[in-house]
Amino acid sequence: MPEADIVFHTRSAGISAEGVRDQYADGKAAKVWEIFIGDKKSRTDNYKNFIVELLRGKGCKRVLDVACGTGVDSIMLLEEGFEVVSVDASDKMLKYALQERWNRRKEPAFDNWIIEEANWLTLYDDVRDILQDGFDAVLCLGNSFAHMMDSFGDQREQKQAIRNFEKCVKPGGLLLIDHRNYDHIMETGATPAKSLYYNSSHTADIKTSVLYVCGKPAMVAMDYLINVNNEQNEFRLSYYPHELKVFTTMLKEIFGSKSGHTIYGDFKPLDDIKDPAFYIHVMEKVK
Ligand SMILES: C[S@@+](CC[C@H](N)C(=O)[O-])C[C@H]1O[C@@H](n2cnc3c(N)ncnc32)[C@H](O)[C@@H]1O
Repeated sequence: MPEADIVFHTRSAGISAEGVRDQYADGKAAKVWEIFIGDKKSRTDNYKNFIVELLRGKGCKRVLDVACGTGVDSIMLLEEGFEVVSVDASDKMLKYALQERWNRRKEPAFDNWIIEEANWLTLYDDVRDILQDGFDAVLCLGNSFAHMMDSFGDQREQKQAIRNFEKCVKPGGLLLIDHRNYDHIMETGATPAKSLYYNSSHTADIKTSVLYVCGKPAMVAMDYLINVNNEQNEFRLSYYPHELKVFTTMLKEIFGSKSGHTIYGDFKPLDDIKDPAFYIHVMEKVK
């Protein structure tokens, strides 16, 4: 059990079929996820051009979305003509992606959309049969990676997951991975309720608690309050608070010092934005 969980139990006890703890297993977050993220079109409009231009600029065609959840980013890319494979550990979240594929099955892109259960710790083996010579790009967006805690205090599982992402990227391909600006969250003790990913008018608040283990921030619990038809919905998700510097070192260690690495703040160059809500890392694997 992750170190921090022993002290402060925050997560659904659910275990996904993939064997990892599934924070979405009680279905509470999955049920209101699409309400929480707001209008899907306006959400993706915020960053669609950035991602699509970046991927097209690098000649990417085949993309692996490793935290597809209900499928919002995958669907955006399918609509833009990319070939997409989507995986996630939570069947409760995947259910919504599978439903969308069924609803739009007459469109060839959706008919060909591959959706599988997979766990980042075993990802390379999970997708080996469909890997071919690697994906042009691997995406892990929406603050998903931070769900992986540091069970042993040395980030070994997080490194294993990123190593698996790296192995799924073909030489010269990209990894796009993001996390909230935890440096700022640690400084202020607060999480902005609105951001480029989450713009729903229904989100009332995100209450933030930080758990320190041996003087080190080990877990951030976010209690999301969402009003739907005058009814309050609540769900709690917990995250590992990645520091920008440490996360950057981890990526560089795994991809190698010759790999390309650019960081964006809310999809803008870092110099153009102060205290972004999200950091997006773009890794370019050596050819
Ligand atoms: C915050 S949701 C984001 C989904 C989507 N990318 C979005 O932005 O709406 C995070 C997703 O990561 C998935 N996830 C967390 N840990 C995982 C793991 N170890 N392996 C695979 N998926 C995982 C969860 O099941 C969840 O669907």
